[in-house]
Amino acid sequence: MNKLCHVAFIMDGNGRWGKKRGKGRNFGHLKGVETVKKIVGASIKSKIPIITFYVFSSENWERPKNEKNYIFKLINTYFTKEIKNIIKQGIKINILGELNKFSSDIKLTLKKSAKLTKKNKKIVVNLAINYGSKNEIIQALKKTKKNISIKNFERNLYTKNLPNPDILIRTGGYQRLSNFLLWQLAYTELFFLKKLWPDFTPKDLFKIINKYKKINRNYGKI
Ligand code: IPE
Ligand code: IPE
Ligand code: MG
Repeated sequence: MNKLCHVAFIMDGNGRWGKKRGKGRNFGHLKGVETVKKIVGASIKSKIPIITFYVFSSENWERPKNEKNYIFKLINTYFTKEIKNIIKQGIKINILGELNKFSSDIKLTLKKSAKLTKKNKKIVVNLAINYGSKNEIIQALKKTKKNISIKNFERNLYTKNLPNPDILIRTGGYQRLSNFLLWQLAYTELFFLKKLWPDFTPKDLFKIINKYKKINRNYGKI
């Protein structure tokens, strides 16, 4: 049985979920937050030490202003309203990505959430926000300078101190990585689901975990 340390999620399909119900893309984002809450709870129950959510990609800036503003507002309200609960549940918030591009209120809320939860031990929840794997790799390479080795390079990734994901789950029907953790996923078990993110349930997660546990992870050996 494989040990499970880290599950990463590409939570795709919010927009289509909202549109399908005639309520617009942003309604899907609102519902998507509910799924995040449920999955964090289920992960704590299943004793998964680390989970990572792809929240906003470096390419998502290309979306219409109204959608971006809605997503940013959701993030800001969520962490302002829920921070007490997050602390109580023992969740450690960790940000992967470049916060500088955001307005000062979001930057402050996210930095504060990370600071206030720094010592929490139940679960690490990484949020990839304004995250792009290619940017991450370039900045890590620049920092590594001449001492290039796998170890030195990994020390300069946003994911320093984190084990690579054991499982990647992408909802929404597409089988692509969309610039997410390209380096870190080298030996990850990949799961692609047709379901849209707001329809993803703890039961779906548990099914995947059970499949994962039985996989032969060879890492090139036999
Ligand atoms: C993923 O859902 C959430 C973000 C990118 C913020 P989408 O918004 O991409 O939903 P679809 O794929 O268009 O349905
Ligand atoms: C990936 O979803 C990014 C996030 C889930 C944050 P996208 O909807 O942006 O990916 P593409 O554009 O379909 O590849
Ligand atoms: Mg999408």
